[in-house]
Order: sequence, then C-alpha cells, then structure tokens
Amino acid sequence: MANKLILVVLFFLSAAEARKRLYSVNGICKSMVETQGYDCEEHTVTTQDGYILSMQRIPVGRSSKKPDKPPVLLQHGLLMVKVMVLLQDGITWLLNSPQESLAFILADNGFDVWLANSRGTNYSRGHTSLSPNDPAYWDWSWDELVAYDLPSSFQYVHDQTGQKLHYVGHSLGTLIAFAAFSQEKLLNMLRAAALLSPIAYLGQVPSPLARGAAEAFVAEDLYWLGLNEFAPRGEAVAKLLEDICNKPNNNCTDLITSLTGQNCCLNSSRTDVFLDHEPQSTATKNMVHLAQMIRGGSIAMYNYGSEDENNKHYGQPTPPLYNMSSIPNDLPLFLSYGGQDWLSDVNDVQTLLLGSLKDHDADKLVVQFREDYAHADFVMAVNANQVVYDPLMAFFNLQ
Ligand SMILES: *[C@@H]1O[C@H](CO)[C@@H](O)[C@H](O)[C@H]1NC(C)=O
Ligand SMILES: *[C@@H]1O[C@H](CO)[C@@H](O)[C@H](O)[C@H]1NC(C)=O
Ligand SMILES: *[C@@H]1O[C@H](CO)[C@@H](O)[C@H](O)[C@H]1NC(C)=O
Ligand SMILES: *[C@@H]1O[C@H](CO)[C@@H](O)[C@H](O)[C@H]1NC(C)=O
Repeated sequence: MANKLILVVLFFLSAAEARKRLYSVNGICKSMVETQGYDCEEHTVTTQDGYILSMQRIPVGRSSKKPDKPPVLLQHGLLMVKVMVLLQDGITWLLNSPQESLAFILADNGFDVWLANSRGTNYSRGHTSLSPNDPAYWDWSWDELVAYDLPSSFQYVHDQTGQKLHYVGHSLGTLIAFAAFSQEKLLNMLRAAALLSPIAYLGQVPSPLARGAAEAFVAEDLYWLGLNEFAPRGEAVAKLLEDICNKPNNNCTDLITSLTGQNCCLNSSRTDVFLDHEPQSTATKNMVHLAQMIRGGSIAMYNYGSEDENNKHYGQPTPPLYNMSSIPNDLPLFLSYGGQDWLSDVNDVQTLLLGSLKDHDADKLVVQFREDYAHADFVMAVNANQVVYDPLMAFFNLQ
C-alpha cells in the first residue's frame, strides 16, 4: 500500500509538470483547440461575487460556416479520480480526437460552442479582490455555482450571441443545472438542456470509495474546512486516500474503476491525457457539501452544521431544499445515464430523479439508458459520438 501511495503521489507531481509545460504559455484555445484546426476565442466573465471565469468559444466548425448558429454552453463536472475528487475544466470536452470530442462535434454540426470553467479551476482563478491564497476565496460550495457561476455564464453567452442557448452538463454540471432550473432560474435564456451522467440525488452512490470519502468529510469537516482549497496533490488528500484504502473491503488496485464504475469504452492510450488534465482544485466546502448529499440523500443547500448557523444564513434551522418537482414540465430535457456508473446511481436516477419528473411533458423529455456506460464514458468513450451525441444533437435540432 505504501508503495502504491507513493506512486499515486508521484503521478500527480508528474501530471502537474506536464500541465505546466502544456499551459504555462498557452490558454485552452491555443493548446487544445487551434492545434486541431479550429478557430477559438478566449473570453472572461466576472460573477456578481467577483470571480473571474474564463470561457472559450469555438464559433465555427471546420466545414460548417452558416451564420446565426445556435449557441451551446458546455459545463464540465467533478470527476472522482484516484479518490481525489477532481474538478474538471473546459478541457473535458476536448480530450479525444475531433471526431470523438463533443465540443468539436457540435462545432462541426453547426453549433456555436462555448466552454465554461468553474471558479477555482486552473483558468478561472481570478477574482476582483481576493487571491486563491485567501481562505475567503474558497468559501463556496456548489450553491454558489448555482447562484453565480452558471447565471453569469448564461447571461454572457446570451448577450454575445443574442440567442437562447442549449446547455450540456456532465456530472456536477448536471446537478447545478437541475438546482437552477428548480428555482426557475436561467429558463428565459435556455432553449434545451442535455444532462449526461446526471447527479442530483447521491444517497445511493454505490462506490465504496466515494462513500468512504463522504464519511471522512462529514466526520472531520472542521479539519477539512480548515484547508480551504481541496488540492488533489496535497498531503492531506494522500492521507485521506490511505485511510480509505486501508479499510477492509476497499480494493484500491484500480482506483478509477472503484470510483466511477467500469467505463466500457475509453481509449486506453488517451486515458493518460485525460488524467493529466483532470486534477483541478475545488473548495473543500464544496466537497463537504457533496458528502452531505451522499449521507443525507436529499438535494439541499449547504448545511452549516447547527441550527444557529443555518438560521444565520438561511433564516431557518435546516438548509432549504432544491425541489426537483419544480422544474417546469415543458422544459426540453435530454437525460442520458449509464448502467455501470458508480456516481450517478441507476436507482437514484430511476426512482428519485425520474420520479420527480414524472409529470414532465412526454414530448419534452428524452431519457436514454446505456447499460454498458460508466461515469467517464459520457465525455470520453470512443463511441459516444454515435451512442450519445447524435441523439443529443437530434434532440437539440427539434427544439
Ligand atoms: C495552471 O496553469 C498555469 C499557467 O497558466 C500553470 O503554471 C499551472 O501549473 C497550472 N496549474 C495546474 C494545477 O495545472
Ligand atoms: C482488487 O482488484 C483487482 C483488479 O481490479 C483484482 O485483480 C484483485 O484480485 C482485487 N483484490 C481483492 C483483494 O479483491
Ligand atoms: C486511440 O488513441 C490513439 C492515440 O491518440 C489513436 O491513434 C487511436 O486512433 C484511438 N482509437 C480510437 C478507437 O479512437
Ligand atoms: C415541490 O414542488 C412540487 C411542485 O411544485 C410541490 O407539489 C411539492 O409540494 C414541493 N415539495 C416540497 C418539499 O416543497
């Protein structure tokens, strides 16, 4: 076990080095998009609470140059890899070849593609008054992504294009969208939403490693919150990994699988690239919030841990719930979930999420189930183009 841990730590150090080499001079456009022969624009948007987020735009495909393309915003997720929960960034959608990566496929099929990067990830670390070294910079959970990041990104794309947008979210990118839609936010700027590997209810997450991490976070939240930034390469995270892997019945030999499920269709020669780009910091508070959902099984705002503190923040002793049944029944939704996914659990999706959407207009809801897909397949599978993206685009084109 000790050797394995050292390897894992070394892995992250070398990933950091690789990342530094790749990005020290160039942004996402220069390093990942223009190299594939696509035009790309770098944009920044400032949230109401001062975070400066980068966005990338791929305005045209390689062949399709028609004007007035419908804009589509791609929102990455949070992928648990090697027990470190890693916030992905916009690169998620660009990792495979142009024939396999959703961002390029959408551009080639006549969409105006926008990539969002959440606060705290590598290209969105700016703030109008705080630095990532200030604890206050990390005082947020996904509630703030719902309240600030997502609305700012939507508004920006809407202003720039003068059109309503399509939305594609993966993983955490689905949770924050569900939460926003349930509060009837963003709907005036939205055409249709595709939610891949949806996580809303986390109560039945089968991954023993995710559950182990959740227990550690909830039991020792004061310790973890003291760290502010949940940096995947940090010592504290290595210790967490060790503790979880040493528990009986936790087999950490293949950590990615133990966490995300058995992904059917990743290209193993590309998995290294994928991992190189994944390790991204997030706020520890965000991790604690997700852990609360795994433990509690509901979709509620961040729990400050005592009635007094909750009262101070919310004017009520318990955190307010996000009510999934409040998502408007006529909102065009495309959901795709996988039978092998250990983070977006089949039972959570079928009973709780689809249960909440049971009154949804039948012609506004497409639900796709892929028995062989796990969490990462939805963005990385070599056959996702045919399996998921073709039906997704067909759905968008009808709205
Ligand atoms: C983020 O990008 C900067 C350059 O823009 C680079 O120096 C740094 O190593 C990157 N950080 C991570 C965590 O990859
Ligand atoms: C752990 O998993 C690996 C491969 O996933 C398997 O080869 C090994 O037998 C497992 N070990 C135990 C103790 O279950
Ligand atoms: C897998 O990745 C390698 C290296 O990038 C590439 O040459 C190969 O064509 C890919 N295979 C598939 C099925 O995409
Ligand atoms: C959630 O919203 C639905 C529909 O608007 C409503 O009937 C239900 O009572 C709400 N549930 C809670 C817990 O507020």
